Amino acid sequence: MDRVVQSAVLFLVVLACGVGARPSQGYEEYIYEHLPELLDRLQRLDYADKPSINTLEPRVAPHWPASDVSIGQVGGIAVDPTTGDILVFHRGEREWGYNSFVGDKFAPGQHTIKNNTILRLDRATGHILDSFGADRFYMPHGLTVDHAGNLWVTDVGLHQVMMFPKGSHEPSDIVLGEAGIPGSDDDHFCKPTDVAVASNGDFFVSDGYCNGRIMKFSKKGHLLKQWGKKSSDGNTGSLSEDEFFVPHSLALIEARNIICVADREHGRIQCFTAGLNNGTEAGYFVHSFDNPEFGKVFAIAYDNNGPEEAMYLVSGPMPNAFLFKINLNGEILFRTEPPNQFAKEDKTGGFGQPHDLAVSQDGREIYTGEIVPNRALKFCYGRCTQR
Ligand SMILES: *[C@@H]1O[C@H](CO)[C@@H](O)[C@H](O)[C@H]1NC(C)=O
Ligand SMILES: *[C@@H]1O[C@H](CO)[C@@H](O)[C@H](O)[C@H]1NC(C)=O
Repeated sequence: MDRVVQSAVLFLVVLACGVGARPSQGYEEYIYEHLPELLDRLQRLDYADKPSINTLEPRVAPHWPASDVSIGQVGGIAVDPTTGDILVFHRGEREWGYNSFVGDKFAPGQHTIKNNTILRLDRATGHILDSFGADRFYMPHGLTVDHAGNLWVTDVGLHQVMMFPKGSHEPSDIVLGEAGIPGSDDDHFCKPTDVAVASNGDFFVSDGYCNGRIMKFSKKGHLLKQWGKKSSDGNTGSLSEDEFFVPHSLALIEARNIICVADREHGRIQCFTAGLNNGTEAGYFVHSFDNPEFGKVFAIAYDNNGPEEAMYLVSGPMPNAFLFKINLNGEILFRTEPPNQFAKEDKTGGFGQPHDLAVSQDGREIYTGEIVPNRALKFCYGRCTQR
């Protein structure tokens, strides 16, 4: 018998036994009360086939992060593939407002953020395992943890990209861009947004708010290739494939040798060759995911744990702020948001402005970071287990 059918039959048997044992309770009440547990059991029965992971929506973990974790605007959130820990890059007491920048430059007279801007959180408990990054950053933005556990961050105030080796609280020699100086040549960035790192060490930078390009570097930080152009503001007419209006987030799909870009203001995801076998073969257009339902696409993440390859994205701002899961044909598998019990002050529930997201290595958890309200959330398929 097909394993999916087997699971469904077992599910029904479980339901029937449960209902039979409690004749006094209404069927619907019983189902309602026990549904999470039953769904969880169903997933456990046959998790290898993950019969319904694509259509089941994940739910928000109630007590994550721990209540004593103080988080400002979340620029980036990432999963450390070497430990499973969750890393958050936040702005502490700083907020990005109208006066933060003068032109492309960070407004003068502001000090570095005094809070520890990088938090390492326990995946299960949400407690802080480590924190650092005080007195270094002006406007934290992107955060990526590579296959070796090194942390890569971008600061849009510094116009820099830097790498912190695994376990280190100090940056490595890889600090790209000139501190505080925006630019569009080979040695400068202008508000760089995100980094994606391949397992061969090559890395990509999306640059950024004021440039409209993707740059590919060798492991040592040598520029190999760049492509893309900045879209003239508000151009929604006929867009070329490499025209970006705030390239805001990157997702590298190594198995397909492609790099996908969240072209935020255009509300689309543009994928290009990554050229992982030959540095210069990067940047040729491959595919676009474009759906008016997305709104603006703030962040993307690839997941290959389900029955089919998928991409998660977060959109915004509210009332069009959602977590979407799509397949690689661009079909929306679900669209979800935090329920009312996670209401913000105005009690409306939902997201305010999700800014980044990350998926656990096993695909069972999705983490979102927001800038309104300032928070990180954990979504789980089935029950959020304490591992
Ligand atoms: C930043 O540090 C200040 C001073 O220690 C503290 O009051 C505040 O709660 C911190 N904010 C965040 C978001 O960590
Ligand atoms: C890399 O690709 C370029 C362009 O297709 C080609 O000219 C070059 O020979 C390739 N280099 C290697 C080492 O394969």
